[in-house]
Parts: sequence; C-alpha cells; structure tokens
Amino acid sequence: MPANTTSNPYGIGAAANRVDGRLKVQGKATYAGENLFDKAPLIGWIVGADIASGTLKQINTETAEAQEGVHAVITYKNSVEQRPFGQPEETQRFGQSRAMLNEDKIRYAGFPVALVVADTLEQARYAGQLIDFVIEPGPISLLTEHSEAQVTPESVDGGYEPDAGTGNIDTALNSSQRFDMTYTTPNQVSAAMEPHTSIAAFDGTNLVVHTSVQILASAVDCLASTFKLAKENIQVKSPYVGGGFGSKLGLHNDAILASIGALHLQRPVKVAMTRRQVFHNAPHRGMSIQQMAFSADANGKLGGVQHHSAMPMAKDYAFAEGTGVAARVNYQAEAIDSKHRVKVVDSPMIDSVRAPGDAIGSLAFEAAVDEVARALKIDPVEFRRNNIAPVHPITGADFSTNNLDKCLIEGAEKFGWKERQYTTKGTKKNGFGVALGMRMNMIVPSAASITLQRDGQLVVRTDMTDIGTGTYTILTQIVAEHFNVDAQRITIDLGNSDSPASSGSGGSFGASSSGTAVLNACEALSLKLSELAGLAKGNELVKLQDNEVVFGKGETQQQHNLESLFAKASDNALTATGSVAPDEGNDNYAQYSCAAHFAEVEVDTVTGEVRILRQHGAFSAGRILNHKTAGSQLKGGMVWGASYALFEELQQDSRDGSFVNCDFAEYHFAVNRDIGEVSLHIIEEPDYKACKLGSKGIGELGITGSGAAIANAVYDAVGARIRAFPITPDKVM
Ligand code: MOS
Repeated sequence: MPANTTSNPYGIGAAANRVDGRLKVQGKATYAGENLFDKAPLIGWIVGADIASGTLKQINTETAEAQEGVHAVITYKNSVEQRPFGQPEETQRFGQSRAMLNEDKIRYAGFPVALVVADTLEQARYAGQLIDFVIEPGPISLLTEHSEAQVTPESVDGGYEPDAGTGNIDTALNSSQRFDMTYTTPNQVSAAMEPHTSIAAFDGTNLVVHTSVQILASAVDCLASTFKLAKENIQVKSPYVGGGFGSKLGLHNDAILASIGALHLQRPVKVAMTRRQVFHNAPHRGMSIQQMAFSADANGKLGGVQHHSAMPMAKDYAFAEGTGVAARVNYQAEAIDSKHRVKVVDSPMIDSVRAPGDAIGSLAFEAAVDEVARALKIDPVEFRRNNIAPVHPITGADFSTNNLDKCLIEGAEKFGWKERQYTTKGTKKNGFGVALGMRMNMIVPSAASITLQRDGQLVVRTDMTDIGTGTYTILTQIVAEHFNVDAQRITIDLGNSDSPASSGSGGSFGASSSGTAVLNACEALSLKLSELAGLAKGNELVKLQDNEVVFGKGETQQQHNLESLFAKASDNALTATGSVAPDEGNDNYAQYSCAAHFAEVEVDTVTGEVRILRQHGAFSAGRILNHKTAGSQLKGGMVWGASYALFEELQQDSRDGSFVNCDFAEYHFAVNRDIGEVSLHIIEEPDYKACKLGSKGIGELGITGSGAAIANAVYDAVGARIRAFPITPDKVM
C-alpha cells in the first residue's frame, strides 16, 4: 500500500492520528452546547404540535408566562419578523428561510408551536406543559403504494435528472428471461451522536450562533434569509460537530428557535434538542418503494435494467432522493430506464441522510441483481463481473478511473469467496453474500487562506467543518507535506463563518474540495515567499526549517531567514489564499469511487435471528489522504449498511403522521455486539482527473452496497429473500 511519499509522519497518506484527538478525549473540544458567551444562556424548550397537519386555532400562554424563571413564551403571535419559509425560492435549499413560529399552519407532527425561554431547562419544560393549544386537524397524507407517487421532481439529489436511460426498455426486458421485483426501505434517521444544539446571541446588530452544522456559508445565508439580516452581521461557529450524516447539512429548528429567542430577548439563548425531539425537529430519510425489472440471457448478460423509485416528499420542501442512480451506472445493459416519482406528504422534513440515493438504492438494487444471478445459477461475483460497464452506460463517458473489477477480484480473494464453507450448527446455517457499489465524486467550490506567522507557525483558515471525519487531520497533512514541517507547526482553524467559504462537509466532497483549496493556498504562499526571496519562478519552497526557509534542491538550494522575508513583505503577516471550482476536476469523465462488499452471516432457522459473522470491503477512491481516518469512515459505513439490512426502521403513525419509536431503545441500529469481524482493503490509484490531490470521495462509499451483501448472505443461508427492509426475524421465519 503506498504510504506517504515523505518521511513525515503527517505526510499525505500516512495513517496519522487525529490532531484533535487529544482535545476531544480531554473534553476541551468545544461543541455547540458548550457556552462560549460571557453570560450564561437562557434555556429554550420546544413545544411541538401533536398532529402533522392543520391550523393552530388557539394558544394560551398566560399560565406558562407567569411561572418562576420564565422570560418569554414565544409563539406566532409575538415572534420576531421573518421571511416566509422557503424564501427566496431561487436560493439553494440550505440558504433559504427556515422560519418558525411565524404562522398558524402546522407543517408536520412535532412542529414547534411555542418556545419557552427560562433560566433553567426544568423551568422551561414545566412551563411548556402549561401551554394550552388547539389545532384544527387537516388531512394527513402519507405514501403507502408505489402508484401514489405521481409527481416528477425537478431534479434528484446530486443534481441528477429525475429520469434517465438508454435504449428501448420494453424490447430489452422482453427479449430474454424477465425478472420483476419490488423492494421497500423504511423511514430512517441519521442518529448523529450529538443531538442538534445551538446557542445564539444578539447585541442589537450582530447575530452570533454557535451550532452544530456541516456547511457554514449556507447557514449564514439561511439566517440572513430567515431574519432579513445582512450577512456581515451574522457569524456562525461550528468548530466541532458530533456527527452530521446529512442531518446537519442545513440549520434546523434548534438554530432558528435559539436565534428567535436571542433576537426577542437580546440575551444568549440555548436550544438543545432532546434525543426524542431530534426525530421530528431534524430531517430524516423518507421510505422508498423501488420497483425493478431485469432481463438476462442464460449466460448472465443483462438485457434490460429498470428502476422506478417512489418516495415521499415533505410538504413545502422540495427534496427528492436519487434512489435509482445505482441502476444508471453499476452495470452495462442494452437498455436502462431509471425514474423517480414522489408524493407530497405530511411528514417532518425529508432530506439527505448519508449517501442519499445510494445507501438505500444500492441496498435494494444489489439485492435485486443478486436474485437474477441466483435464478440463473451463476456465481454472483462472476455475474457482476460479467456486467460491469466499461464506460458510463448511459452517457458513454469514460470513467476517470474505475477499479470496480479489481475490487471484486481482490475482495473475493481476501474474503475467501471461492473457498467458502457451508456449515450447519444446530439450528444455525451460514451463508455468503456479495454486492457492489459506485458512488459519485464531485468537487464543490471551496476557499482557504494560509498565514505564515512571525513565530514560524502556519495557520490555515477556512469555514470547513470536521464532522468527526478527520478534516483537521487531513488538512494538517496537506500543509505538513507541502512545507515539509512537523504537524506541531500547523494550526487548522475550522468552523468559523468569518473565514473563507469552503464546500463544508457533505456528499463525500469535503476532503477533496477543501483539501485542494488548502493545497492551492500553500502553493500561493510558496510562490509569495520565493518572490520575496528574489527567486525566479520554479524555485518553489521546499522546506520550512526553524527560522529558515529553504528553497530549491541540491546545488541551487538556498536558505533565507524568516525575518528577512518578513522585512520585505508589505503586511505584517504572510498570507496567501487558494480556491477550487468544480471545473478543476475533469468533468468530461464519469467520476466514481467503487466498492465490493462481502459478508458471511449465520441465520437461526428456528428464531429467524441473523448474526453477522464477518464483513469485508474492497474499495477504490483515488489517493487516500489518511489511511486511518479513511479506513474508519469506510468501516463506519459498512456497519451502517449492516444496520440498514437488519435493524433500522422509523415507524410512522398513519393517524397523526408522528414517528413512534423516537429513541435508541426502539429505533435499533447496529452496535458492537451486532457486528462480527470487519475488514477492508484499499486499491489505491490516485485520480488526478478528479482533483489535483488525486483523492476521491470516501465518506459515503462504505455504506454503498454493504447492506445488500448481508441481505444476499441471508438468502444464501436459508433461502429467505426479504424484499421489505429491514430483515427482522419475523420476516426470515
Ligand atoms: Mo451527506 S448525507 O451529503 O452529509
């Protein structure tokens, strides 16, 4: 495995420890709930609607207001002025108004109808119980049947067209043996470890919000849109984020309500969602009904591939998930037909959850593909290898790089696919499954600055976030490698909206986008230093050493004292900026990261219980910036895939549109005891068409396909093909 190219323990690629690890384990990393203002914040408590749709006819707050410690009870009757929800329409969704408490309309179950602000949480919560309100119920609409989804969304997440395909699908599907199947996946949540929390302060002019968010620049836009404030008067800080997984791409009710409280009272106000509140007050992933059809000849060559996705779209919020995008790229076929339809429903906000589209798309699609391979009695690894697309099956574009076949070959080898042994132990039988995954790669505009200080420290500033993924560390590595310095000389300052705007974290684009911007800033600083040293272009800086800057190599090498360079600089500090835009990658190429997942399970034929014995993943995602943090993300994704296969299901009550199992005792996800051995290996091939760093998206790759490998292993063990996820014991029996 190619390690870092230098001996620097923090060079690019090194399996370096997190630079922020020590702060985190010491409790010194400041998360959103930790007050950073001079004054202790007042505490806001959310009072939510008990029904998903209707009109707030009456709300009586007098008793609550009279309680000890209560500073305000804010409802739509006395709230600060806001721009209507979703405005301006032309702004992208995370920058639009997320107005709350500004109208009598109820948008979803749990929708805030009042914010109680008090000295303590107990006082606020108690007063909240004393608010009387009456909602005149409206009709509640949810998605139950595929045919109910009739609306074509404008686009699906990731910028895809709702419909795409090639060839004549009806001809292709009927020209050889045809297979039809419908899979469903349930509502799911991100379940980030840190619940959504914000503390806001307003001094009459400036609004400062400490929150937990993945993208800062659009969070500023959102507050500006919502409260009609100038962007210059807004600061958002989010230096540490305890997981986001899409549920913190934009700001949610905590941030808006804390801001309403702060604007109303001109004192810092904190709103920390309880775990139960997160389920309704932050977005979730909608359920899906995925109707598929395939045709294949006796040799296992695919003829037609059809995927018609039906999903809910939350009322007033135009987000549609690209559930069918796996069908567009995973395999070559004579004809492909992928369509997305939605039904507008009375559900809490539906938005991105990790690997939107592919997480649940690949779960269903790769299980369906397995059905075809098994029906034709073709080894499922061979079946997949035989149908891999040499170019993008719909656009015909070349892949920038594509190691899918290598992932399957090497993954099968490492897993021991060919040597797999079937055993029966009492009532338990084992089984093996495989699935593949392709996840799009993209670059999002990003900027950063780097300053060389007089004390020799290098300070990077960008409004990028580290949502637990390791951004602090990989940006340190990029700087450490470029200037050939120890990590101790580098400070990465993230999560402050006053810094240059970055991509933020999401869509697997964070590392490559913000990393390239930082690399460009480093190069700009090198150039600046060499100009100050009076050197011709090309004598780029190679090393910062104590107080010396060493230029060039060999005989032409020369050293300049840092002081002498500062003396020639016009400003006190030496700062340079760098940025990246999407066209820096080569957009004529289809850019994907790829994965091959293998799993062995053991199924109890009496109880229907599935135990995962082992999971192995083979991945290719360009150049790996840090083998430790990349490996951790991939493993996390693999485990999450297992969780989707076997456990996760958010139950919705059709009578009132609310979610029922709003805690981690009832909303099950995989924990340590649920997972056997997890191993992975990486096929590393830098992809310089994807970006200058050669890296590609990795964050969403681990989950893409991993659940299907487990579902396919369950079938292999006991012949149970469960098409309604999750695969719970009652369905297996
Ligand atoms: Mo990701 S779901 O774009 O954080």
